[in-house]
Amino acid sequence: MKTESSKQHTATPRQAPEVASEFPAGFLIGAATASYQIEGAVQEDGRIPSIWDTFSHTPGKTWNGDTGDIAVDHYHRFEQDLDLMADLGLQAYRFSIAWPRIVDADGQTNPAGIDFYSRLVDGLISRGIRPIATLYHWDLPQHLEDAGGWLNRETAYRFAEYAAEIAKALGDRVHTWTTLNEPWCSAYLGYGSGAHAPGLADGAAALRAVHHLNLAHGLAVPQLRRHSSNRPAVSATLNFHVVRGDDQEACRRIDALANRAFTGPMLRGEYDADLLEDTREVTDWSFVQEGDLELIHQPIDLLGVNYYSTVTVRMWDGEGEHVRNDGHKDMGGTPWPGSEHVEFLAQPGPFTDMGWNIAPDGLEDLLVSLHERYPELPLMITENGAAFPDVVATGEDGPCVHDELRVDYLVRHFAAAQAAIARGVDLRGYLVWSLLDNFEWGFGYAKRFGIVRVDYETQERLVKDSGHWLRQTISAHRQRS
Ligand code: NOJ
Repeated sequence: MKTESSKQHTATPRQAPEVASEFPAGFLIGAATASYQIEGAVQEDGRIPSIWDTFSHTPGKTWNGDTGDIAVDHYHRFEQDLDLMADLGLQAYRFSIAWPRIVDADGQTNPAGIDFYSRLVDGLISRGIRPIATLYHWDLPQHLEDAGGWLNRETAYRFAEYAAEIAKALGDRVHTWTTLNEPWCSAYLGYGSGAHAPGLADGAAALRAVHHLNLAHGLAVPQLRRHSSNRPAVSATLNFHVVRGDDQEACRRIDALANRAFTGPMLRGEYDADLLEDTREVTDWSFVQEGDLELIHQPIDLLGVNYYSTVTVRMWDGEGEHVRNDGHKDMGGTPWPGSEHVEFLAQPGPFTDMGWNIAPDGLEDLLVSLHERYPELPLMITENGAAFPDVVATGEDGPCVHDELRVDYLVRHFAAAQAAIARGVDLRGYLVWSLLDNFEWGFGYAKRFGIVRVDYETQERLVKDSGHWLRQTISAHRQRS
């Protein structure tokens, strides 16, 4: 019998799944979320509108017209969510700070916004959970978008000021920072394809946004260092595209656009010549000013890796239908400026509810190749997880979610991470996306990634089998280390 959960419940799973305990001492296992996806309370305590408020309230942009207005009400329920994290035994929790809660439209710091994150951080620390704070997970203040958003270089300077304020307020307690989450999405989906806020569909704009996001990262890193009281670990989180296929030209192009457009300037201080050449017809890159690459190329202490699936590409020969199974919603524009003619082929299954192929070997390959390329740079999996259409069942102890597919996904990806470590990769942690079911951007509430189910009618939380599995995995890991 299927039923919606009507009360908070943490029933144990029917059978203990295989746990993944073979990680080195000091390795952090935890979970991740992001502000707009969970907080709600969008008009409270001085929060100003963000581009995702505007976008999600624009008809046709999100599934079912869903918005983050209420989301999973974490802003009001954070104490309960902290207890849930403690119950799961999380060693680390990655959250993002909403820029629109922190700086008002006049550039003044909002004490109520700071206070919320300060209480969250205190709550984590008192429960022995390491806070890992992301400064930008896509909720740009709308007034900055009105002034050009990431197309305007000034936004990068505003970001650095915001970073300084956050570090002053929380830098005595937060020791791991991420500047940007997945700038690929902010630039290419936000300004190139139109699938994300602010919803522009202009390839040249996407590349301009890439550069200003890179600049924002480079300007923020020294601010985080300057204003944090201990020597913090500063990072950026990138969504690497694991590109497969025999067609070297197609692989090279997508690797350049998706991956090297960020790792080039951030980690090597350059935009690769082939990226500039591939996009020559789209933009002349004149928005890159003298000295920018030195500013962007800041030493960082950790690289955040978000991984979900792979892509397989080949050059389109102009014959027949152009295939684009790149896993992103088609909103009219392109997330691949200058390489629109690359084809994204159908992947071999199995697939998650997002239609993304399940390929744990892609995670191992990615970690190993990043380590080979940047051997001195420690890595952390800042997101990995899967959406599946969960159902609430009635078990012996009450309602439960037997999300075997998500457990299996995690077991296999944890094993891939262990295999990468065995091959010498300096991997420092693994944060599962996501702690809670939440607002999945253009897909609204249709896709559930949580290891904890949220009943959107009642806001009640119910630990899924995957959450129980994570608890057991962390517990075994703690006993070993
Ligand atoms: C990456 C993003 O950082 C996160 O916000 C999103 O929900 C997950 N991927 C799943 O799509």
